[in-house]
Amino acid sequence: MGAGICRSFGMLLLAIAFISGGCSQGQTAKVGIEQNFRPFTYTEQGENKGFEVELWDAVAKKAGIRYELVPMAYGELTQALKSGEVDLIVAGMTVNNARKDKFAFSDPYFQTGLVMLVHADNTDISSKDDLKGKTVATKLGSTAYEYAGSMPGIKEVQGYPDINQAYEALIAKEADCVIFDERNVHDYVQTRGQGKVKMVGEVLNKESYAIASKKRNKWIGRVNSGIQAVVKDGTYEQLYTKWFGTRPEKLPGE
Ligand code: ARG
Repeated sequence: MGAGICRSFGMLLLAIAFISGGCSQGQTAKVGIEQNFRPFTYTEQGENKGFEVELWDAVAKKAGIRYELVPMAYGELTQALKSGEVDLIVAGMTVNNARKDKFAFSDPYFQTGLVMLVHADNTDISSKDDLKGKTVATKLGSTAYEYAGSMPGIKEVQGYPDINQAYEALIAKEADCVIFDERNVHDYVQTRGQGKVKMVGEVLNKESYAIASKKRNKWIGRVNSGIQAVVKDGTYEQLYTKWFGTRPEKLPGE
C-alpha cells in the first residue's frame, strides 16, 4: 500500500512540475539589462534605473510576464541569452540584419541614431567628412563600432568594453571623436561631460531598439502585445516625456 501511495504522489508531483513548466504564464522571465547605459538601463547604488527599466515593467505587467532583472555588462548579454542564463535582453539593443540572423526581436520601441562627440576645444571636426585621419573611440561590439570601422579614411577606431572609457579617452585627448548612441551621448554632455565636450554634426545612422530573445522562444509574441498596450494607454508617451523631456516624434508601431 505504501508503495502505491508513493507512486501516485510521485505522479502528482510530476503532473504539477509538468503544468508549471509548460505554462509560461507561471514562469519567471530572466531579463538581462545593462549596468551602465544611461538613461536607458543603469544601476545606481544597487538600484536598477532608466527609461527601459520602467518601460519594461509596464510592458511586462500588460503582458502578464513575471520577471527578474539580471544586470550585467553589455558584452555579456548575448552570450547569456545563448546559454539560457537570461530569456530576454532589454538594453538599448539596435536591431540590424546581422543580429536578426542570430536572435528574435520584438517590435522596435525606440527610434534613435549615432552621433559624434568631440572635445570642447576641438575646432576642426564638424561633420563626418572631417574624420579622415582622425581617431574615433567607442564601445566594442556596438553598432557605432561597426559604423566607425566602415568609414573611409579613419586613422584608428579604439573600441572599449565600457563607453565611459571612450569618453575618458576623448577628455584626455587620446581620441579625436566619440561616435555612439545619441541619447547616451546627450546624457553624458549634460552630466559628467558638461563643459568638457560638445556634440557636432548630424545624426550619422538611424537605428531602433528592440527586445531580443532566442530564435525559438515563447516571449516575443507577448512582449509585442505588451508594447502595443503601453502605447495605447499612454504609458509609453508618459515615460518617454519623463526621461527625455519631449514627446516622442513617433510612437512605436506608427
Ligand atoms: N545600440 C547600440 C548597439 O546595439 C549600443 C548599445 C549599447 N547598449 C548598452 N546597453 N550598452 O550596439
